[in-house]
Amino acid sequence: MQDRFIHCIAKLPASLQTHILPILNQDFAGHIDAQQIAELCGACNITEKALLLALLPVAAALAKPPTSQFHVGAIAKGKSGDIYMGANLELNGEALFHSVHAEQSAISHAWLSGEQQIVDIIVNASPCGHCRQFINELVQGQSVNIHLPEQPSQPLSHYLPYAFGPSDLDITEALLSKQQHPLDFDSADPMIIEALDHASLSYAPYTHSYAAVVLETQDGHTYCGRYAENAAFNPSMMPMQMALSTLVRHNRDFSEIKRAVLIESSLGKISLVGASMDALHASAAVELEHIVIEASE
Ligand code: THU
Ligand code: ZN
Repeated sequence: MQDRFIHCIAKLPASLQTHILPILNQDFAGHIDAQQIAELCGACNITEKALLLALLPVAAALAKPPTSQFHVGAIAKGKSGDIYMGANLELNGEALFHSVHAEQSAISHAWLSGEQQIVDIIVNASPCGHCRQFINELVQGQSVNIHLPEQPSQPLSHYLPYAFGPSDLDITEALLSKQQHPLDFDSADPMIIEALDHASLSYAPYTHSYAAVVLETQDGHTYCGRYAENAAFNPSMMPMQMALSTLVRHNRDFSEIKRAVLIESSLGKISLVGASMDALHASAAVELEHIVIEASE
């Protein structure tokens, strides 16, 4: 088991402690598939909702909050039945707006794993306004069920009535709907190819600034983040933050980052390069490689 889970294990019901142990192996980064969930429910004799609420301390153990010391854990359940954990991330010494909320982390985890819809979000603290707005951008966002400890489950429409969303800006797409933006760039560099793939899958209906970040650690592993815009603009999730959050979920340290690439489309209304550099430099002593794609769309 990874060291970061040692303290949270004691907070789980006894039967779950036994059955979750093999899952929390060295490769665990917060994903549990539908079959494993069904097996855990059977082995612990609890409902799926009770299981997911009981697993929140595991999600919260993925947090890295040097400023607040407040560990938030969230679980996004995809339409496939798989679950994706996420946790908050704060960048030490940097402006607070660089932070990633647990709900954003879990949702981006599901999106990067190929989910096209999220049906439930389970979280250990009431979702803030910014997260409610972020969830509202999702496919069928108003119907996403929110589950909190000691609260009846309610759809997002209960937590965010009179919502402002994509349709107010005449956008009919939604976050997690299939994106495929043609971004051509000739390169044999695997990291650049990976970043291109993710930029083409990014969600930027308001600026068309399709973008992605890939981070490489010293041992050659890569961790990516796609740009996810929001109708209210400020709750948008930057690709650098998403990539850093992916890396932390995989139990890697910022000091292991040896290379960072940002790819963005030239046709977008904005550039993420300044914001990405700020977040990267708060985390690692690495220069950002910035590639602008002369895309046609
Ligand atoms: N936080 C979340 O992760 N989700 C919420 O909806 C509430 C707030 C985090 C952000 C920050 O890292 C810390 O909790 C204090 O606000
Ligand atoms: Zn929040």
